[in-house]
Amino acid sequence: MPSRRTGWSRAPSRLAELTARVGASCLDLTESNPTRAGLEAPDLVALLGDGRGARYAPEPLGHPMAREAVAGYYAARGVTIDPSRVVITASTSEAYAWLFKLLADPGDTVLVPSPSYPLLPYLADLESVRLERYPLLREERWRIDLAAVERALVATRARAVTVVHPGNPTGAFTRRDEAEALAALARRHDAALVVDEVFADYPAGPTLPADRLPTFAGTTGGLTFIMSGLSKVALLPQLKLGWIVVGGEDEALVAEALARLEIVADSYLSVGTPVQLALPDLLAAVPRMQARARRRLAQNLEALDAALFAAGPESPLRRVPFDGGFYALVEVPRTRSDDEWLERTLEAGVLVHPGYAYDMPGPGVVVMSLLTDEASFAEGLARAVPLWARG
Ligand SMILES: Cc1ncc(COP(=O)(O)O)c(C=O)c1O
Repeated sequence: MPSRRTGWSRAPSRLAELTARVGASCLDLTESNPTRAGLEAPDLVALLGDGRGARYAPEPLGHPMAREAVAGYYAARGVTIDPSRVVITASTSEAYAWLFKLLADPGDTVLVPSPSYPLLPYLADLESVRLERYPLLREERWRIDLAAVERALVATRARAVTVVHPGNPTGAFTRRDEAEALAALARRHDAALVVDEVFADYPAGPTLPADRLPTFAGTTGGLTFIMSGLSKVALLPQLKLGWIVVGGEDEALVAEALARLEIVADSYLSVGTPVQLALPDLLAAVPRMQARARRRLAQNLEALDAALFAAGPESPLRRVPFDGGFYALVEVPRTRSDDEWLERTLEAGVLVHPGYAYDMPGPGVVVMSLLTDEASFAEGLARAVPLWARG
């Protein structure tokens, strides 16, 4: 019989039931798959045709060229990373799985932020790890509730603290002082930091505010694992390549973590050779790919702000401030439940996500992807914003 940990409820949620009704005519304002949003790059996929990929010579932690290319990606951001501290994975999701295996035994606890990305509970279940959520304080622009983190570390003896930097869907980059305090807390309580930076290249403005940390890579402290990958960095989720950078001042501890990760990686050897060989060229194309995405994100954000402004000074709608990433949150009146809003918005032919799908504290927030193609986004706003503004 199947295991208990795979015994998830498969009864369709209200959200799934409602979205199942979405027809082809519906405008999907939650699209975050770049290959469905007009941002595909066939020329980059063609780079996988290198004849050297015909030979299989597995390297558990990744092909040396790929590991060096990742170090080069950080060097372009002013951060020096030793390629020997880079681990190549098939995706960031796989990186989470490998790190949970490395850091936690079945039944151990890992701390995760709330609100956050809805895949994390599944990734934890698959490793038989318990999740304990710590709050991000919305009224303080999603500041990490450090006191809650410490309480949870003490109460659960958590093995790791996960940080999504910037948050999904909050778009908040960790402040420098928060990052330092969190690193100190984790170290004091013998927990590792696991940092998901898939959106770190997408600050919303031209530069990140000075008090925000651009990346945890290169910071000093205890054992820290920074994860990212091609799916957001190069808008190539279908190539299936992610990475982990292992940080930490304690060389012996880092070496031990890498040696164990090598055995985890060797047990799967999941990353294809062609994509690893293409990685230097794929990462060289990152500025071009990201420039396209940034134009899209900025244009949709401008359209959103213009639509909210046009709703008039009495409008109850507010965009929740954010620092970056692909998502925008809009506060809608609490006169209706999240599901009622979802349903009414769908009746107008527009799909958005309710905040509860991301464990948002309380109702009254809708989530949209700014990566949606501009025409659908503008038309969707033209239909949905007047509806929301009426309450
Ligand atoms: C915060 C966050 N982390 C990780 C991922 C997964 O990335 P990957 O495709 O590398 O598994 C996503 C995908 O949307 C994400 O939003």
